[in-house]
Amino acid sequence: MVAAPSLIPLPLSVTPVDAPGLALTAETEITGETDAVAALHGILLDLDLDLGFGLDRAPAGDGGHVELSVDGDGDPESYRLEVDASGVRVRGADAAGLFYGVQTLGQLVAAADAGLLPSVRIADAPRFAYRGVMLDVARHFHPVETVEAYIDRAAGLKFNHLHLHLSDDQGWRLASASRPLLTERASGTSVGDDPGGFYTQDDYRRIVAYAAARHMTVVPEIDLPGHTHAVSLAYPELTEQPVLAPHVLETVEAYGGGIPTHGEPYRGLAVGFSSLRIHAEETYAFVTDVLRELADLTPGHYLHIGGDEALGTPAADYAAFVARVTRIVADLGKVPVAWHEAGAATDLAPGTVGQYWGFVTPTDGMDDKTRTFVRRGGRVILSPADAVYLDMKPTDDFPIGLTWARGVTSVERAYRWEPVEVIDGVAEADILGVEAPLWTETVRDLSDIDALAFPRIGAAAEAGWSPRTGTHPDRTWESFRARLPVISRYWRRRGYGA
Ligand code: ACM
Repeated sequence: MVAAPSLIPLPLSVTPVDAPGLALTAETEITGETDAVAALHGILLDLDLDLGFGLDRAPAGDGGHVELSVDGDGDPESYRLEVDASGVRVRGADAAGLFYGVQTLGQLVAAADAGLLPSVRIADAPRFAYRGVMLDVARHFHPVETVEAYIDRAAGLKFNHLHLHLSDDQGWRLASASRPLLTERASGTSVGDDPGGFYTQDDYRRIVAYAAARHMTVVPEIDLPGHTHAVSLAYPELTEQPVLAPHVLETVEAYGGGIPTHGEPYRGLAVGFSSLRIHAEETYAFVTDVLRELADLTPGHYLHIGGDEALGTPAADYAAFVARVTRIVADLGKVPVAWHEAGAATDLAPGTVGQYWGFVTPTDGMDDKTRTFVRRGGRVILSPADAVYLDMKPTDDFPIGLTWARGVTSVERAYRWEPVEVIDGVAEADILGVEAPLWTETVRDLSDIDALAFPRIGAAAEAGWSPRTGTHPDRTWESFRARLPVISRYWRRRGYGA
């Protein structure tokens, strides 16, 4: 029997064929959809395999043929890939499917000994429609180039959404034409002594376009009504005084960074002390202005309103606020997304998507709020913190990262969980997908991002894309662990600090 090639995320079906494969040479011709040919060319360049493929070159001899096409056949984002001695055929059901087939082909090429691709037939399609990564650009600001680099990494693993956490206590990161003081006064700092920064609206459009070219949709988040200390630097009349409750002082004690002061930049790691003024009508005018601009800038369906850790907001006020804000988002023509705490409100806009960031099991009671979204006709994005929070330390002695999600999150722990088993009463059809957040309290640049994300981002990719555990012989930790060294070499050859 021929061994299956090592691929991450695991495809739906891989059939190795015991026959000669294709020797890739400078004579191999690559034709088909222009974007897909360019994407493959980029991967081959990263791999230092510039065989002269390409775009404007007619190969002289019969070096085989790589054909990249879209044929409309199959589920969204699906593809088929065949290698035999005469060549490679990648057929996407749509452009995204072809793009994913090219990513798989890149992994095959990297693993090929002396350029000899194994003969194989692959049929692949995603399990979940939503496969996301989140980058926190608020705790530490990350420039456009870093965001683009992270998009490349995620798209190569068949993620199709980039959630940007654009505001938090430590800074406001997207310019607003209607509320210009937000970035004028509240974007200059990050956690610690690090500099801040913000995106102009053109920067944001660049990120959206870069993502779209890689079949990723940006999901912007403005975190409300907590995590809003930065607003107090710009529009103090919209925010309450910091609530210096014991949980806040405990986190100040644990992490340092000082006591938050209304109207002053906050550089620490405490959470749960800030709140918008829930009973002030100006607050809703502000929220509507900011969200309207964001909706106008964002072609994707989703707009995330945060809603987590609003520990400084009384419960009834919180519920009234998130319900009202989800309706503002719906009125702007977008689908609201909120962290699972918003499920405490019983009258969220119908169809609001809930993002669960509790634990895999036991869920510590956070599952109940998550079921509210399903009752209201919405679906759930799973981001269990003890499995897919990429900012958790992977080992005890790792120099960066946090440990609050039940300690260290090893690669094995990041792999060993099953989406449909996380929340009782939330079935496969209720799950929109899986998202791996990367919070950046301790993450200052791309090399920090790579150090924490890899290789666990591969486990998250598999949870979102690959068949359910127990339904495929290779959807196991043992198989993933065996595939990982091959794909880690691929990542490093592509220039990722994996
Ligand atoms: C979160 O981790 N506070 C969503």
